[in-house]
Amino acid sequence: MKMFKTLATAVALCAAVVVQARPLEEIQKSGTIILGSEGQYAPFNFFKGKQLTGYEIEVAEAVVKKMGLKYEWKTVGFDALLTGLAQDRWDLVIASHAITDERSKAVTFTLPHYCSGGIIVSMKPEVAKAADLNGKVVAVQTGTTYLDAVKKVPGVKDVKNFPTDEAARNALASKRVDAWVTDRFVAKEMLAKAPKAGFRTGDMLFVEQVASAVSKGNQGLADAWNKALKEAIADGTVGKISQKYFQEDVTCK
Ligand code: ARG
Repeated sequence: MKMFKTLATAVALCAAVVVQARPLEEIQKSGTIILGSEGQYAPFNFFKGKQLTGYEIEVAEAVVKKMGLKYEWKTVGFDALLTGLAQDRWDLVIASHAITDERSKAVTFTLPHYCSGGIIVSMKPEVAKAADLNGKVVAVQTGTTYLDAVKKVPGVKDVKNFPTDEAARNALASKRVDAWVTDRFVAKEMLAKAPKAGFRTGDMLFVEQVASAVSKGNQGLADAWNKALKEAIADGTVGKISQKYFQEDVTCK
């Protein structure tokens, strides 16, 4: 009896670890797709009071509607989002992840919903170009492409990691660092919202395509998402959302 119990526990444990991503058919049967995001990356994904909103949140909701599904949002720290796919905590992640080779080893990306890049933000006119980061301390959010990019800039004195992009920005605002590297549209919004804060944007360090991600190999779900996203771009739905947040079209041309 005792042995049986041990075995049963072992089986249950294995089942909990070897979880299978929900294929499209299963999601359709349940009627609801579980979406994961961060909620701390305005204007892409953020909380307005208790309401999760932002460019990619609205795009996701429009795409899901076209897929004939309902949605349920889960929000966690940026770092936990892609690993949560493998643990089947959500079906799809949309949180401004750029398509990279490294991430593509672990997840399957959909088509991009915007094109952007990393930009240097500082409070000093002499810190504007990649070469100006020589000997400087730079703030970035942990786990981002900004971290990877800044690490590659020769001569950077120190790269300081923060759990959120906002914390990295605050480090610059309180002059604990010389520069902050973030998304160009995040920076644009920041400058527009707080023109007197003393932030100035410098050069872009790199460009990237930003997409949502599903569990590695969950191609049926990715295909259905891509079809609906294409439709939402073609019929102007995404363009409208883009104008609302950025006063320009941020989709990839
Ligand atoms: N685009 C960058 C990357 O791919 C930053 C994403 C940050 N996203 C967020 N939800 N904070 O790493």
